Amino acid sequence: MTPTILVVGSLNMDLVVRAEHIPGPGQTLIGHDFQTVPGGKGANQAVAAARLGAKTYMVGRVGGDSFGSALVEALEESRVTTDYLEIDEMEANGVALILVDDQGENSIVVAPGANGKVTPHDVRSAEAAWAEASHVVLQLEIPLDAVECTLDTAREKGVTSVLDAGPAMKVPMELLRKADILSPNESETEALIGRRVTDLDSARDAAKCFLDNGIGTVVLKLGDEGCLVATASDMTHVPAHKVKAVDTTAAGDAFTAALAVSLAEGKFLLDAAHYAAAVGAIAVTCFGAQPSLPTREVVERFIASRT
Ligand code: RIB
Repeated sequence: MTPTILVVGSLNMDLVVRAEHIPGPGQTLIGHDFQTVPGGKGANQAVAAARLGAKTYMVGRVGGDSFGSALVEALEESRVTTDYLEIDEMEANGVALILVDDQGENSIVVAPGANGKVTPHDVRSAEAAWAEASHVVLQLEIPLDAVECTLDTAREKGVTSVLDAGPAMKVPMELLRKADILSPNESETEALIGRRVTDLDSARDAAKCFLDNGIGTVVLKLGDEGCLVATASDMTHVPAHKVKAVDTTAAGDAFTAALAVSLAEGKFLLDAAHYAAAVGAIAVTCFGAQPSLPTREVVERFIASRT
């Protein structure tokens, strides 16, 4: 059966410049080139889920400027159902200013625009999506009342929620506890619980802290160290695939979406994390957010080539 995923979240147009390194305060640098690329954590996760074969709905908002149609088209090209996207003519579209250095690392600043206007009503209105989806994926690039409404609605409807804790910010623990699965990266973990994650031991300590605070399942993303899967009964490190990094933008989004798709297909959590690690690794090898998200066939070939 085709898995069905609902993504509630942001859409941004990414304005990307590549440069040798990321400049410090007050520094001007000549970069390589400039590109506009469809992005936004929510839209990236929706595109990733659809390319991996899930029937995918997206709830979110686009603004009235010319980026809006390109953002919606990018979703539709990957067969994401956009019936529940609101068009907010009075708002600008979300925009992300992204610098990517020659090692593939990035720095990102987001101007939320219409993403900042997503409401609990938008979330609840997606009735057909809620009726069909087994898993809902969300992030923190939309207002927290919409995040909370998504988590509450998921509980009411028996839909499993996967909360990607990006971008890094402090969020009340009561809100995080409403998620079935919480997936932060290192910097998001530090913002949420004040623990620096620098190695596997500190990752285990941070995961234990989340569990002690009542989070049921934590999948801590560790970049090129893979991820740590933590529940009350088990804590397992899933190593990363070694790849040449071109651009890490959206690798975390690819990971979270793949985790949800794999779980929606009925896989065990650890198997889903292994699959997600492969999908995240592939995303790192290509430039840009949505252009880097692999199809199911590409992932299968990658996994076969590594075993
Ligand atoms: O996670 C990557 C995404 O973060 C980018 O596409 C950018 O839009 C920001 O939302």
